[in-house]
Amino acid sequence: METQIRKLDYEAIDMNTIEEAGRVLKEGGLVAFPTETVYGLGGDALNPASSEKIYAAKGRPSDNPLIVHIAEKADVYRIAEEVPEQAERLMEAFWPGPLTLIFSKKDLVPDKTTGGLSTVAVRMPSDKIAAAFIRASGGFVAAPSANASGRPSTTTAAHVAEDLNGRIEMILDGGQAVIGLESTIVDVSGDLPVILRPGVITGTMIEAVIGPVETDRAVIAPDSHVRPKAPGMKYRHYAPRASLTIVEGETAAVVAAVNELTAKAEAEGKRVGIIAADETAGCYEKGLVRSLGARSREEEISRHLFEVLRGFDETDVDCIYSESFGDAAIGQAIMNRLLKAAGHRVVRV
Ligand code: TXA
Ligand code: MG
Repeated sequence: METQIRKLDYEAIDMNTIEEAGRVLKEGGLVAFPTETVYGLGGDALNPASSEKIYAAKGRPSDNPLIVHIAEKADVYRIAEEVPEQAERLMEAFWPGPLTLIFSKKDLVPDKTTGGLSTVAVRMPSDKIAAAFIRASGGFVAAPSANASGRPSTTTAAHVAEDLNGRIEMILDGGQAVIGLESTIVDVSGDLPVILRPGVITGTMIEAVIGPVETDRAVIAPDSHVRPKAPGMKYRHYAPRASLTIVEGETAAVVAAVNELTAKAEAEGKRVGIIAADETAGCYEKGLVRSLGARSREEEISRHLFEVLRGFDETDVDCIYSESFGDAAIGQAIMNRLLKAAGHRVVRV
């Protein structure tokens, strides 16, 4: 199949293209589309055959449930069996935006979409192209991140094409995703709300709206042995081809340690990549240095993380050393992705 790539302009969204993309979905096809977090690989959430196609295109295990994307708040009541009051307050505070909520599901949502679970994940993106596309598609778009399973999520249409070209009907190109990390996931289907995946909407922001929330232990566990409650979080993820190690500690000590590790690896004939920030990028003597952006503007760090991880796959580096980014307000979300990419390899100095 030939994948159509359509560039769209946020200032004047071409509704003919949106309608065409909507038709593809209604006919059971797949369209990748931009959201404020990462690109999504969309299919009709109410059509089990579409969900099967999504799993096949990504090479994703089919026990891994998909998020259903909506464009109208009221649509949540059509697919959720029960919308607790706390969830309504979160919807009021953060929708549309990078927050996914998990509800007990209605029968309208096929088991194929939820990986056989009795719950459904729902998100209302703030991205204007995403909202127009969801409306044109009938209102319920199942969409995992638009990457091949195991690879870093995609933040540009070019990344999507790298992984999915020839496997899907269309890619809507809205330029670079602004946030760059996937949505925060909160399970509101039980007695106590639980954060299953951290994102730019932090636990502190959520607690300010609804009071105490728990965080799934797997999100913050120092090792990878705790089984996460979001099925997808248990898979190896985001991993670049080169082996990635995070170096943690005071800035000066980290820079010294990375320089030392790099010199040692190069002496063994290896090529080394380094993930740094603007503040420290100039401190490295050797290696291929890539900066995520300025620590003083933490949204730059999250926006560029997946792009930089992917970028190393275009190079011939054998190993990568990364600074740690846990100090940012969204540090938990950044480190959750970076630790997975590193297979939890951390050196403390
Ligand atoms: O920002 C995002 O959320 C992006 C954009 C495209 O919206 N989507 C995204 O989808 O990250 P995906 O499929 O890559 O990640 C969804 C995560 C997976 O870890 C999955 O297991 C979990 O959400 N999930 C989905 N439905 C669930 C459910 N009913 N219960 C528990 N976890 C669920
Ligand atoms: Mg994903």
